[in-house]
Amino acid sequence: MKSYNIAVIGGDGTGPEVVREAIKVLDAAAPKFNVKLNYTPFDFGGDRYLRTHEVLPDSAVPELRKFPAILLGAIGHPDVKPGILEKGILLRMRFELEQYINLRPVKLYDERFCPLKDKKPEHIDFVVVRENNEGLYTGSGGFVFKDTPHEVAIQESINTRRGVERCLRYAFEFTRKRNRRKTLMLSGKTNVLTFAFDLWERAFHEIGARDYPDIKREYAHVDATTMWFVKNPEWFDVIVTDNMFGDIITDLGAMIQGGMGIAAGGNINPQGTSMFEPIGGSAPKYTNQNVINPLAAVCAGAMMMDFLGETPMAQAIENAVIKVVREKLKSLAAGKMGYGTREVGDLVAATV
Ligand code: IPM
Ligand code: MN
Repeated sequence: MKSYNIAVIGGDGTGPEVVREAIKVLDAAAPKFNVKLNYTPFDFGGDRYLRTHEVLPDSAVPELRKFPAILLGAIGHPDVKPGILEKGILLRMRFELEQYINLRPVKLYDERFCPLKDKKPEHIDFVVVRENNEGLYTGSGGFVFKDTPHEVAIQESINTRRGVERCLRYAFEFTRKRNRRKTLMLSGKTNVLTFAFDLWERAFHEIGARDYPDIKREYAHVDATTMWFVKNPEWFDVIVTDNMFGDIITDLGAMIQGGMGIAAGGNINPQGTSMFEPIGGSAPKYTNQNVINPLAAVCAGAMMMDFLGETPMAQAIENAVIKVVREKLKSLAAGKMGYGTREVGDLVAATV
């Protein structure tokens, strides 16, 4: 019996509801794979902030470091100014726990739920490796002459050789392990961002040529990448990109795989504490109505098990999700599934 300690942050809005269903499914699958999961809840989020005026206690990060994985619901509260919780909780955890990869699989489970004409599951199956600790997200920059007619706002993209290289290496390794078309595409903007993506492109070809000769290298500008997501998603295998571009293209990716109800992601520190989340956000208007789709959180749970080395268990959960999506659900959207949040969790738990 293998036992894992999991930190659970339900967070805001529909976060706690979907995490509850993810845990239901994990607990249904675990005994079949000789696994035991021990959960420790943390109450970080908007409600706690409004109550205590503290975004994240100083003890949080050292405490979380003791866990191999965190299961996160959602961060974002309608009564808290945008940026406070996102930067103070989500980004702080990503940075301080050095989760330098944001891994976002884009996989269509059922063609009924794809907004693209004539695209089937065999056409949409790729993974975005998003750099998760640098770029425009570091908070580097500031104001000059704020609140005057002369005000200047500067927001700098930070790209370190170390940060870029470790991200690229992860992406090459991932492409090799995935073993599909063995093609890694760098998505950037070398025609305009001639410093940042010059570094990315040089590092990409240096590392690729030296250490990953078995992996084919491709490059595309990020604007063209979004075009091909819609036109020819079957062209992609693994894409690597910076933090901001990765944020943008993965929302588009989520839409072509069936929407936010199904899209999951992992914030990965390959040597440390990783954090898994549905990428849809807190969806305040659906809170506590038993209408939100829990499958993105369930899929995040599957990604977590894969990260922990329990690949057959992860596979079984994903297969159960696919079966339920194909055979039971009317839609992947909140309130339209034909079942409630808890019932969808029950269906997957009974299938796994
Ligand atoms: C995501 C989200 C976050 C991001 C926000 C909430 C800070 O959009 O995980 O993609 O921009 O990374
Ligand atoms: Mn995003």
